[in-house]
Amino acid sequence: MAIPEARADLIDEILKDHAAIQALFARVESTSGQGKEEAFTALRRKLITHENAEQTVVHPLLERLGGKSVMDERLAEERKGEQVLAQLSDLRVDDPLFETMLLQLKEDVVRHASAEESEEHPRIAAALDMNRLAQLGNDFRAAESLAPTRPHPRGPSSPAVKMISGPVVGIVDRARDAAEDAGRKQASRKRATRPAPQKSAARRPAARKAPTRAASVTKTSVRRTANKTSTRPTARKSTVRRAAKKISTRPAAKKTSVRRAAKKTSTRPAVRKTAARRSAARKPATRRSRTKQGSPYTRAEIAQIKREARDRNLSTAQIARRHGRTVGGIRSLAAKEGFSLRPKNR
Ligand SMILES: [Fe+2]
Ligand SMILES: [Fe+2]
Repeated sequence: MAIPEARADLIDEILKDHAAIQALFARVESTSGQGKEEAFTALRRKLITHENAEQTVVHPLLERLGGKSVMDERLAEERKGEQVLAQLSDLRVDDPLFETMLLQLKEDVVRHASAEESEEHPRIAAALDMNRLAQLGNDFRAAESLAPTRPHPRGPSSPAVKMISGPVVGIVDRARDAAEDAGRKQASRKRATRPAPQKSAARRPAARKAPTRAASVTKTSVRRTANKTSTRPTARKSTVRRAAKKISTRPAAKKTSVRRAAKKTSTRPAVRKTAARRSAARKPATRRSRTKQGSPYTRAEIAQIKREARDRNLSTAQIARRHGRTVGGIRSLAAKEGFSLRPKNR
């Protein structure tokens, strides 16, 4: 829309805003991620401050010029737009609903601005001189600088009340904006300085080593816990604690196994001893059964001694040495069994 020289200030300020709002819509649509978020914040602030300035400067003027019905229509559109902006502010910029709602808002805002330019501006331009328009232009810029920057769809719609409450709400909004901007800058700096995530290859050799099954499992559990990207530190801690419990309970299980094994080994010698004792107890009985009662010789040994005595090649002392007996013992055996020994001088 061409701006005649005499109408410059108030209407020019409004038209510049309309052009800036359209450019911001285009910027939101053409960007993504953090850029889209920042563009939307700029659009939201511009739309809200612009409409608030219109409501406190332009609408009262229109009412005085007999354009109340036009003003009411524009006000209803502005209130609806503020509600949509509030809903959009609660959405993430990558939400598909955000794009749909943004497109609808853009169409509504363009239609609204077009109605202002065609129905309000000619009426104002026709009624006011250049100086008054210039003065109102200054008022408009001042109102924008003090206006709220965030949607308050449940706030007052009356221009008189807005004129009083707007600057107060604006101070609060701008303080929130400053905090929001600082947080965004800090997050951006952190992203820029964050080291590139290391590949998990460094962990693999440790997993392959796995000295024992239990140690391997517990190490893997702890590693998995540490690698979790959960944003809840308490949840991580509890998981780590569980993993730590696992580690502490496994050696206990091992101890039990060791104890069982120790018991097994300790019982074996006992069994052996018992068996040995039984065996030892049985053996003499067997030997006794094969010899005469009370004789320390086996039948085979007695028969051998008899053969050696009969052959006369060995002396009594030699026979005794062969069998680990005493000479007296051999003589007693010979007397008992009725065989003779070689005479002493042969
Ligand atoms: Fe408007
Ligand atoms: Fe406007």
